[in-house]
Amino acid sequence: MTSKSVKQCIEQRHSVRSFTDEPIGDIEIQELLEAARQAPSSLNSQPWRFAVITDQGTRDWIATKEVSHKQSWLSKAPAIIVCCADLEGYVRDSQAAAFFYKENKLFDPEPMKGVESYVAREETNSMAARFGAGAMNVGIAVAFMMLRATDMGLGTCWVGMFDEEQLKNKLSLAEETRIVCLLAVGHPDEDQAPIRSRKSLEEIRIA
Ligand SMILES: Cc1cc2nc3c(=O)[nH]c(=O)nc-3n(C[C@H](O)[C@H](O)[C@H](O)COP(=O)(O)O)c2cc1C
Repeated sequence: MTSKSVKQCIEQRHSVRSFTDEPIGDIEIQELLEAARQAPSSLNSQPWRFAVITDQGTRDWIATKEVSHKQSWLSKAPAIIVCCADLEGYVRDSQAAAFFYKENKLFDPEPMKGVESYVAREETNSMAARFGAGAMNVGIAVAFMMLRATDMGLGTCWVGMFDEEQLKNKLSLAEETRIVCLLAVGHPDEDQAPIRSRKSLEEIRIA
């Protein structure tokens, strides 16, 4: 199998909501999680955590009105990766990084103060405020997975419309583990990619 360039993956990735019956194997899942693992994160805190759902019963449940506003196509996605942010781990690992940077004098004194005040702010922030930074980090990892999936000929769709409480209960997730999105993954079953409408460069470049 020939590998695509990053540019090709970016151009070819689109949301796929129709999948063949071909299952997704452990090796493919590992490849996607490996891509996530390589993503950058604030203070290298790597707050992402993933729960991989492949059993039909749970996928059918996710596809219901109560959980995903009846996004029925989700029951045919061979794998649904629940992409989470561990907000305790995020602070703990950020603290550890700041300590390590200081001990090893990896930063000049002034930027080091910046790192320490960033960590101190996150420590005292409410869980809701921490979620902003946690979700930002997880979002990057999910983007890496989506591009790697495109490279592997797989289709993905980011799903943001779901009932977090119900999913957290079902998966017995800890209070401090917040769900950022669901990533549906499978072998695409479509004739051609939809035409994507995008804002022009002039619209998005503001200076
Ligand atoms: C934060 C976010 C939430 C999204 N939520 C959903 C969703 O709940 N259901 C869905 O079918 N697509 C969802 N999408 C996919 C978008 O609709 C899609 O990315 C957008 O229309 C652009 O199309 P493209 O991905 O094919 O380029 C979401 C995407 C993002 C980034």
